[in-house]
Amino acid sequence: MSLPRVSRREAALLSLSAALLGGTTRGRAADRAVITRPIPSTGERLPVIGIGTNRYDVSSAQDIAERKAVLAQLPQLGGSVVDTAPLYGRSEEVIGEIVAGLDNRARLFIATKVIARDPASGEESLAHSLKVLRTARLDLMQVHNLIGIEVMLPLMRQWQQSGHIRYTGITTSNPGDHPRMMDYMRSLKPDFVQVDYSLGNRGAADTVLPLAQQLGIGVIANTPFGGRRNAAEVFARVADKPLPSLAAEIQVTSWSQFFLKYVLSHPAVTCTVPGTTGVAHLVDNLHAARGPLPDAALRRKMEQLWDSLPG
Ligand SMILES: NC(=O)c1ccc[n+]([C@@H]2O[C@H](COP(=O)([O-])OP(=O)(O)OC[C@H]3O[C@@H](n4cnc5c(N)ncnc54)[C@H](OP(=O)(O)O)[C@@H]3O)[C@@H](O)[C@H]2O)c1
Repeated sequence: MSLPRVSRREAALLSLSAALLGGTTRGRAADRAVITRPIPSTGERLPVIGIGTNRYDVSSAQDIAERKAVLAQLPQLGGSVVDTAPLYGRSEEVIGEIVAGLDNRARLFIATKVIARDPASGEESLAHSLKVLRTARLDLMQVHNLIGIEVMLPLMRQWQQSGHIRYTGITTSNPGDHPRMMDYMRSLKPDFVQVDYSLGNRGAADTVLPLAQQLGIGVIANTPFGGRRNAAEVFARVADKPLPSLAAEIQVTSWSQFFLKYVLSHPAVTCTVPGTTGVAHLVDNLHAARGPLPDAALRRKMEQLWDSLPG
C-alpha cells in the first residue's frame, strides 16, 4: 500500500491547528484553566488529560453515540489527546468516522501505534491508520509494546521527514518491560514514551520516569486507574470511603480525580490517557486537569493512604 502524500495546504492547516491548540488552552481564563505541559522535544504544549480508546471497537448506534459525545466534548472541555491503536479492533475506524462527522480533527492530538517487524508491514500499517483515521498526518506514532522497535523507529523518523507523523513514541504497559524501554530511550531517543503509571502501580517512578526527565522525553501515562481489566477493582477499593481531607487542598471531588492528580503531579508526566467511553467520566476526569496539583509531601500522603486500604 503506498502512502498518501501530504499536500502543502494540508501540512499548513495541520501546523496552524497544532499552534492554535496550544494557544486555545493557554488562553483560557486564569484560575480554572486546563493545565498544559510542554513536549520536551519541541515545547509545544499539551493538555494533561486526554482519552484512551481501547474500548472504541464498537458498532451499535448507542455505543457509537456515546463515543461521539466524548470526542465532541473533549476539545470543548480543554482536552485534545486521543490515544488509539490498530490493535484495538475497529477503534481507529470509529474515531475516524466520528471525527470526520464532527469536523474537529484540527482540535485533537491523535496518537496511534504500529506493530510491525519489517518496513513493508510498517508502511502498510501507517497507510491504513491514515486512511481509517481520515487524516493526512498523525500527531504521534508509537511502537506498540516495543515490538519491532529497532526497525520501526528509524522508519518512523522517515515518516516525520515526509510529514506523515509529527512525533515518535514507544509504549508498554508491562512493568517487566521497563528495563528494555530504558535501553531504547537511551539509544533511540523517541519524542515520547507511553508507560503504565498509577497510584497502585508506581514502579515507573523508579525506572522510566526519571530517565525521561533526564533525557528530555515526553511521557504519556497509560492505565491511570490500573488498566481496563483492573479499574473496577481499584474503584471498588474506595467505593465506600469518603475522600480524605487532603482532597480539598487539591480541589478534588471524586476518587478518579484523586487518582489522576497523583499521576499528573509526577514532574516527568506530560499527560495521561484514562480509558473513557462516556461523557460523565470525561467531565469528571477533565476536572483533574484544573486547579492545584499535590506537592511531594501530599503525594507521599496519597501513597500512604492507598497502601493502607484493605484489598
Ligand atoms: N501498551 C500500550 O500501549 C497500552 C496498554 C494499555 C493501555 N494503553 C492506553 O491507555 C489507555 C488507558 O488504559 P485502560 O483504558 O486500559 O485503563 P484505565 O484508564 O486505567 O481504566 C479505564 C477504565 O476506567 C473507567 N473510568 C474512566 N473514567 C472513570 C471515572 N471518572 N470514574 C470511574 N471509572 C472511570 C473506564 O470506564 P468507561 O470506559 O466506562 O469510561 C474504564 O473501564 C487505553 O485506553 C489505551 O489507549 C496503552
